[in-house]
Amino acid sequence: EENMRSLADKNGLLFGVAVRSSDLFDPVASKLIEDNFNIVVTENIMKLENLRPNPRFWNWNPVDDFVEAATEKGMKLRGHTFIWHNQLPAFARNIRTREEGIKVIEDTITQVLTRYKGKFYEYDVCNEIIDDETGGLRKTVWLDTIGPDYADIAFRIAKETDPSVKLILNDYSNEYAGTIKGDGFYNFVKGMVERGVPIDGVGFQLHLSTDYPLNEQALRKNIHRFYDLGLTVSFTEIDVRVKMPMTPQKEKLQKEIYEKLLRIALEEKVSCFVMWGYTDANSWVPGTFPGYGSAHPFDRQLKPKELYISMGKILAEY
Ligand code: G3I
Repeated sequence: EENMRSLADKNGLLFGVAVRSSDLFDPVASKLIEDNFNIVVTENIMKLENLRPNPRFWNWNPVDDFVEAATEKGMKLRGHTFIWHNQLPAFARNIRTREEGIKVIEDTITQVLTRYKGKFYEYDVCNEIIDDETGGLRKTVWLDTIGPDYADIAFRIAKETDPSVKLILNDYSNEYAGTIKGDGFYNFVKGMVERGVPIDGVGFQLHLSTDYPLNEQALRKNIHRFYDLGLTVSFTEIDVRVKMPMTPQKEKLQKEIYEKLLRIALEEKVSCFVMWGYTDANSWVPGTFPGYGSAHPFDRQLKPKELYISMGKILAEY
């Protein structure tokens, strides 16, 4: 019997979703996830604030359970994330010296990638490190204390610890060639490659909105320039938010964006097509963008939307 997951498998596409950890243990939600997706990512439990709230205290249990459940269901895993400026525990916000900073990065990465050696397909080693306005490195505790080589250091430690996991630099608003952030992100990655840093690929989050059209040409151009550097490209956090109330016109725009992204992923042989949540019942969007919602492929009753049914047709057609 064909489902979205088998259609994705047939296309060699890693097709997945970010999961709030308890969903893999809820019978209805876990069945839906298992039937639709061949890769999952933890939405929050591997972020430092949750995984390591204190330098000596590790919250392994939820992650152990998640990794085990996903692996049992034959799904691959994306890891998210080691180095970020958000959801940081107090001890990390209070790092003062380069030595302290490197130690936190080193301990975190070696502990995680040793415990889960061979379990992750790819990992967002650093997340959102490029500044929106300048396209240079974002001002964070990591930059302030360690200096501009903190990402290089993190990727090197990760590669030494688990050479099997693909190491990714992930960001938002980095998907288009010819924008300040898109070009800044590209230049930083190119520099990493030139310095011999073991980066395997880049992630475009793709938190999109029906307020802006998708610039297909700039996206494809960007994918190709990363391929020219010898890297992979993953779509890592897709959603398309809509300013409420929903109208038939916005619904159509949203469907077109999801369809177009999937076609681009298939045609350009993108590694992962991962959506940041599957249901509007459980969405990060309204909390961050008040007045926006309906961003995900399933409605609040876990019914697939038209856009998702259409994505199934696209997967069947390629
Ligand atoms: O678990 C607590 C709950 O106990 C409490 O009652 C509630 C009250 O606010 O908060 C709950 O925690 C929230 C958590 O999501 C779980 O819902 C946090 O406050 C909230 O900050 C957290 O937001 C997460 C956000 O990252 C934090 O920056 C979102 O779930 C998560 O989807 C979002 O994910 C990020 C990616 O990691 C990086 N790219 C952007 C993406 C969307 O913002």
